[in-house]
Amino acid sequence: MAYASLDDLLAEGVRGRRILVRSDLNVPLEGDVPWLRVTDDGRVRASLPVLRKLSEAGAAVIVMAHLGRPKGAPEEKYSLKPAVDTLRDLADFPVSLAHDTVGDGARAAAAALTDGEVLVLENVRFDPRETSKDDDERGALARELADLVGPDGAYVDDAFGAVPRRHASVYDIAALLPSYQGDLVEAELVVLEKLTRDPQRPFVVVLGGSKVSDKLAVIENLIGTADRILVGGGMVFTFLAAQGHRVGASLLEEDQVETVRGYLERGSRDGTRFVLPTDIVVAEKFSADAASSVIAADAMETGAHGARGIGLDIGPATGADFAANIAEARTVFWNGPMGVFEFEAFAGGTRAVAQALVDAQADGALTVVGGGDSAAAVRGLGFPDDRFGHISTGGGASLEYLEGKELPGLTALARDEQ
Ligand code: 3PG
Repeated sequence: MAYASLDDLLAEGVRGRRILVRSDLNVPLEGDVPWLRVTDDGRVRASLPVLRKLSEAGAAVIVMAHLGRPKGAPEEKYSLKPAVDTLRDLADFPVSLAHDTVGDGARAAAAALTDGEVLVLENVRFDPRETSKDDDERGALARELADLVGPDGAYVDDAFGAVPRRHASVYDIAALLPSYQGDLVEAELVVLEKLTRDPQRPFVVVLGGSKVSDKLAVIENLIGTADRILVGGGMVFTFLAAQGHRVGASLLEEDQVETVRGYLERGSRDGTRFVLPTDIVVAEKFSADAASSVIAADAMETGAHGARGIGLDIGPATGADFAANIAEARTVFWNGPMGVFEFEAFAGGTRAVAQALVDAQADGALTVVGGGDSAAAVRGLGFPDDRFGHISTGGGASLEYLEGKELPGLTALARDEQ
């Protein structure tokens, strides 16, 4: 698909124009209202360059963004305020937050906006029409958003994380204004295309996270494409069960065991080797200070915690084995932590994989961290962003791209060219 770029828009000239930008400011928060704090500012930082370019070029910029999944009405815990405070701290241009999304506050603030200023509308999901299944409802909200920028306005989609959503501020808005692809979306697609079109081999994929059911489509699509798939995280216990092992009280999706068994068979037929853990860190309960021991993956219930043991991380031998596989790769994609990395005692596997990606990148491989929890994990464990080839801002979006799914946000941008 071909898209008009931000540079195309800048070449047309934006001084004196109002430009509507969809950013992804959906950052993780901790604490309670009103003391919420951003724990990973990666998405805010990633949104800055496009806003800066437009501000420096003299546009009055109006940003649409969401935070969390509010139920179509304002709720303070989902306010964009903490994200906008972070943006303001990082920005070298004026940033303000409107009191509402398309109400009197937003309309007055948009009308008063001057060249070079950036106004962020309050969480677009506070309006139930944003996520409505009804085309007319979404269209009506999109019209009100478009009205904020007037007849000279334009729309820039820079929210890669939101491209899978058929929402008013992502999809419908593109039918109403001249539409452009932001630099962040463009950069994400360049990297994902490298993974899907002729990746340098060996191409090693590392998958973790809690639920195998979230990863079924991507595994389907990667069998026959990836050379190896290394599996850790909570989802691995369904793989171990598919191999006939007992997994104690660990996460297990019984209804997926047959499907996973089918994947293991298909993998060996189609040239994709699944690499599964040989040891697991098993804990007596789910807590940061739980007693734990390292147990062979095929003997989890015979260890210290018996059938009540919960696997919370891959073991050290597995971490070393995964690192050795990653060291041989020329292309690596990683999505999903290897264990409960938020608890130091169960962060070893995730740390081993992150370090292996850093080493592989230094050795000339392309390493891609697929957003979401894995991005938060590498930052939380102290790895600088620039030690990886690319850290995606869209966990779900990068997986859906690799699944080969249609992404409505991208379809909408391409619509002008069809
Ligand atoms: C994300 O967190 O992946 C994006 O911001 C999209 O959020 P959503 O899954 O709530 O649509």
